[in-house]
Amino acid sequence: MVTGFSLSSLFGHFRSVYYEVFSFSNKLIKGHCKIWIFQPFYVLASGSLVTFLLAIMCAYLYLFPKFQPVTDSYETPKSSNSVGSCNVFEGTWIQDETYPLYNASDCPFAERGFNCLANGRKDRRYTKWRWKPNNCEIPSFNAREILEKLRGKRIAFVGDSLSRTQWESMICLLMTGVEDKRSVYEINGNKITKRIRFLGVRFSSFNLRIDFYRSVFLVQPGPVPRHAPKRVKSTLKLDQMDHISKEWTDTDVLIFNSGHWWTRTKLFEMGCYFQVGGSLKLGMPTTTAFKAALNTWASWVDTSINTNRTSVFFRTFEASHWRYVS
Ligand SMILES: *[C@@H]1O[C@H](CO)[C@@H](O)[C@H](O)[C@H]1NC(C)=O
Ligand SMILES: *[C@@H]1O[C@H](CO)[C@@H](O)[C@H](O)[C@H]1NC(C)=O
Repeated sequence: MVTGFSLSSLFGHFRSVYYEVFSFSNKLIKGHCKIWIFQPFYVLASGSLVTFLLAIMCAYLYLFPKFQPVTDSYETPKSSNSVGSCNVFEGTWIQDETYPLYNASDCPFAERGFNCLANGRKDRRYTKWRWKPNNCEIPSFNAREILEKLRGKRIAFVGDSLSRTQWESMICLLMTGVEDKRSVYEINGNKITKRIRFLGVRFSSFNLRIDFYRSVFLVQPGPVPRHAPKRVKSTLKLDQMDHISKEWTDTDVLIFNSGHWWTRTKLFEMGCYFQVGGSLKLGMPTTTAFKAALNTWASWVDTSINTNRTSVFFRTFEASHWRYVS
């Protein structure tokens, strides 16, 4: 059932991704994280697939106003056999006049708040970014071909709103290859909202599921331990995976993100403090806690995920879909 679909064979084994995560988190601990780090790291590919997140694109130019894009346009290549041996994570964003690949107004899974064009944005350049690896060409996006490759599979995005918007983009991209749009639906009839814990979209003609789980820290939140100081309103158990993680094991592709919530404002100022085992870690910095949580996550992948079947991706910080108005 899973033959012909192995991302790991294309992009190196999971472990290489895993170690990149750790080298990144080490940099973070050493204090190199003074700016937003744009990690074009959410390449999800079956040899021919790169998803672009339009919401991230929207924010990208705001966050990097001085960023000068490559001005040349490139033709999207028709095919390429070179992806297999190429490091697709090293490259640049280029402008491609054939983009965008979908119209968010025609996609029921695109959140209105992130549909920049429908919300009045005038320029179009931000919709035309395409990822170009340095040493190869990624074949042009063909929704139909990718749907065929994903037939019978289950993909899950896990993380914060950045994962959610990428989940939306992925669905919208693939929907361009589906004739009967009603054959694509959320399995519980739920609408997309900020706080929803789970959304599952089924492409019924392809027996394909693309799920989203909201788990912004990936580890388990907990109640206030007894005798805790008054400022403690909740805890994060750094040594325990989020309990819904048991629903992530039966998947073919798992795409995680975490990072943007590991801040003082989203934690300490909300009364949330770290806990390891039975003990509160009131003085633990967010960067140390993030590293501990990533270790918990990595051990969980090692022990709970059959990486022969499931390809695992992890993304950390990236351009956010926020714009701070001063
Ligand atoms: C996107 O779709 C909407 C509604 O179908 C349409 O009004 C709009 O012109 C389309 N935009 C582009 C760029 O094609
Ligand atoms: C994964 O594949 C390797 C090599 O074929 C095999 O030795 C190993 O037992 C497999 N692991 C699982 C969990 O199936």
